[in-house]
Amino acid sequence: MTSFRINGRPVTVDDDEQTPLLWVIRDEIGLKGTKFGCGIGMCGACTVHVGGRPTRSCVTSLGAVSGADVTTIEGLDPQGQHPLQRVWIELQVPQCGYCQSGQIMQAAAMLRDFPSPTDADIDAVMTGNLCRCMTYARIRDAIKQAAR
Ligand code: FES
Repeated sequence: MTSFRINGRPVTVDDDEQTPLLWVIRDEIGLKGTKFGCGIGMCGACTVHVGGRPTRSCVTSLGAVSGADVTTIEGLDPQGQHPLQRVWIELQVPQCGYCQSGQIMQAAAMLRDFPSPTDADIDAVMTGNLCRCMTYARIRDAIKQAAR
């Protein structure tokens, strides 16, 4: 049994401690906003926050989050009104949308460290979040607008 909090709610799951957190989030807890892309920590689609830090849930074991606070895109703002979410809609950032929850979670963590990020800050932090539709320019614009 492993207990942790997800989006502020305590949960206890019975999966093997080596189970990737991503599968626990999606299949056990039923939150489908966190996506599977590569499964090897290289694309960022599965990004969540663990203790407030951006974390690749595909390469994080369930055991590693015992007692931790995990936040998914569903919990970033209970009403879906995080400044990044509002701007993402306003600027119509997504194309296919698959990677975008990971993009937003990575960006949300970045804005805590860099409240007024430069292009270089954004590129450095977001470089590990891949988008096959190439929405990078809109992502950068959205992050800068949300930071204002
Ligand atoms: Fe986790 Fe790609 S699915 S980084």
